[in-house]
Amino acid sequence: MKYRKLGRTNFAVSEIGYGAWGIGGKQWLGGSDDESEAALRRAIELGVNLIDTALAYGDGHSEQLVGRVVRQTGHKIYVATKVPPKNRTWPARAGSTIGEVFPYGYIMQCAEESLRNLGLESVDLLQLHVWRAEWVAEDDWRRAFEDLKRTGKARAVGISLTDHDPDSGLSAIRTGLIDTVQVIYNIFDQTPERQLFPLAARENIGVLARVPLDEGGLTGRITANTKFSPGDFREFYFRGDRKKEVVEHVNALLADLGKSANLPDINLPDTALRFCLSHPAVSSVIPGMRTRSHVEGNAALSDQGPLSAQNMAILKRHAWDRNYYS
Ligand SMILES: NC(=O)c1ccc[n+]([C@@H]2O[C@H](COP(=O)([O-])OP(=O)(O)OC[C@H]3O[C@@H](n4cnc5c(N)ncnc54)[C@H](OP(=O)(O)O)[C@@H]3O)[C@@H](O)[C@H]2O)c1
Repeated sequence: MKYRKLGRTNFAVSEIGYGAWGIGGKQWLGGSDDESEAALRRAIELGVNLIDTALAYGDGHSEQLVGRVVRQTGHKIYVATKVPPKNRTWPARAGSTIGEVFPYGYIMQCAEESLRNLGLESVDLLQLHVWRAEWVAEDDWRRAFEDLKRTGKARAVGISLTDHDPDSGLSAIRTGLIDTVQVIYNIFDQTPERQLFPLAARENIGVLARVPLDEGGLTGRITANTKFSPGDFREFYFRGDRKKEVVEHVNALLADLGKSANLPDINLPDTALRFCLSHPAVSSVIPGMRTRSHVEGNAALSDQGPLSAQNMAILKRHAWDRNYYS
């Protein structure tokens, strides 16, 4: 496993981090706590030292699982969590006020609740779980971030940016008050490369690349007939004709890569994760992986290094402008 500096923090984080949404259950059905804990432990054994969770993931359940494993391990693990919007609305609506979403006292209370769930005295990275650029001058989040850092409850602070809208984070970076951004970055959504990544690199801001496998779309396992359990978030994400659309895009991508013959035995999830790590502005890519076998496959990729310029040029052609979260 290779490690990268998380922006201006002094954290050396693993190139492959652990996305802990799925293990919270509730919105991701079909896993079990035993399997999740085994996957987390295996990830740590293989050098993963960054875990991204959130108070909202299973209403604290993901944080509790992560905390249990992290407290037992002998290694330093960087734990990132998130403050949910007070009005429980993802993404934040245009026109919503900071008072409705992130009032000062609420941010502070959520941080305490996360620390209780994790069983830790300090979290390495505290992120706001939604964001609107209109809030950039508001006092509530600025003061909360300053106070959390001053008291040592959070060692670093950041923002998880709105789905498919990386530029909503540009003005927040320019305030100098955040250490990291978390953003959707994958073969289908390459928009952070335009403005966010150059600015983050210039300002030395850490970048967590989230949803690198398009919630499963870039694993190659979705077929037109895939069924998700009722209530599973992916039933909504891949609803209607979307599974068919995904298959068409994935087939085109594989055919294009196959023609180039540069990736013998193309493995789509491997290629998708290496795509993210091939951009130097990315500090860590954080796939969700609830099973040991996915952890083992993914953790091994860091050592393979970036994709060739020729394969990156092919992948550039497969950007796809759409928003399945809406
Ligand atoms: N608004 C936000 O801040 C926000 C929103 C979404 C996500 N996130 C963060 O980003 C993380 C990653 O996103 P995500 O978990 O939603 O989606 P993702 O990483 O794009 O995809 C996860 C899916 O890929 C599967 N998978 C992982 N490795 C695989 C492999 N090697 N081969 C085949 N399938 C593989 C997983 O299966 P299994 O689970 O069965 O192993 C799971 O179904 C989250 O866990 C969370 O930490 C943040």
